Amino acid sequence: KDITLIGVPLEEGSGRGGCAMGPAAFRLAGIVKSLEGLGFRVSDSGDLRPEPATDLEERQDAKNLPIVGAFARALENRTYEKAKAGTIPVIMGGDHSLSMGSVPGMARYAAGIGRPLFVLWIDAHADFNSPETSPSGNIHGMPVAFFTGQAEFAPILDRDRPMVDPRNVFQIGIRSVDEIERKMIAEHGVNVFDMRAIDENGIAAIMLQVIDRVNAANGLLHVSLDVDFLDPDIAPGVGTTVPGGATFREAHLIMEMLHDTGLVCSLDLVELNPFLDDRGKSARIMVELTASLFGRRVLDRPTRSA
Ligand code: ARG
Ligand code: MN
Ligand code: MN
Ligand code: MN
Repeated sequence: KDITLIGVPLEEGSGRGGCAMGPAAFRLAGIVKSLEGLGFRVSDSGDLRPEPATDLEERQDAKNLPIVGAFARALENRTYEKAKAGTIPVIMGGDHSLSMGSVPGMARYAAGIGRPLFVLWIDAHADFNSPETSPSGNIHGMPVAFFTGQAEFAPILDRDRPMVDPRNVFQIGIRSVDEIERKMIAEHGVNVFDMRAIDENGIAAIMLQVIDRVNAANGLLHVSLDVDFLDPDIAPGVGTTVPGGATFREAHLIMEMLHDTGLVCSLDLVELNPFLDDRGKSARIMVELTASLFGRRVLDRPTRSA
């Protein structure tokens, strides 16, 4: 199988500087070598560098929309093209607003082959705000509402683009949700497994439910991994740390179980802020998790039947 790396040096969705250095940090942490070591042909398509869109307006309730929107457009195309060419797009961010491009690109690809797209959102945050509900105006808190069609706040992408059904979105690790956001995710049927659900049931039981749902629908699964899912002690290199995050072992188990399913079609690695990191440790752990997702394992195990 082939993997295409796509660098997205985008930080304007996050309200602070640093995430634009993410792609460079992933490369320095050895992402190419570690995927090649697992038997993949890896091609690095370089970094997207779009100009700000002149048809999108600056606004206080969706900050830096011209550049964030330009990245979403460029990435939607690049992701779609690379998936259509038969490769697995791995997007190296960049802040989480980039999922306004990667997920719609994969939704277009999935619609083209007649399969539903599911999204596994691994994050401390639900990212289901819209400009009307956002307390910060930072677009990285809005991508899930955007790609499910619940925040059509500007003509960023085609009006008739395929949307992701909010009931096909699974969120895991959630522990920071804004007041109105909480109502929105419930109203739209997003499947949320918060930290309490992980503590009570364990990662494995939750992942089996998710995997069953995707399998039953013959779906494709896009994985979006936000650094702040992890506990700040093991991954300090992110602007929006929230205490009480996932452990190293929980995170790896998710990735290993996903690998066994063969359902994963694409991956976002987001919110890494190398400026805030501690000697590259967050970059390294994200690369390690990527390796687990693509098949690194300790022992051979019988695969669980679907
Ligand atoms: N809910 C907050 C907001 O809307 C924080 C979002 C954080 N999102 C992220 N991708 N780190 O501003
Ligand atoms: Mn996020
Ligand atoms: Mn987050
Ligand atoms: Mn609605």
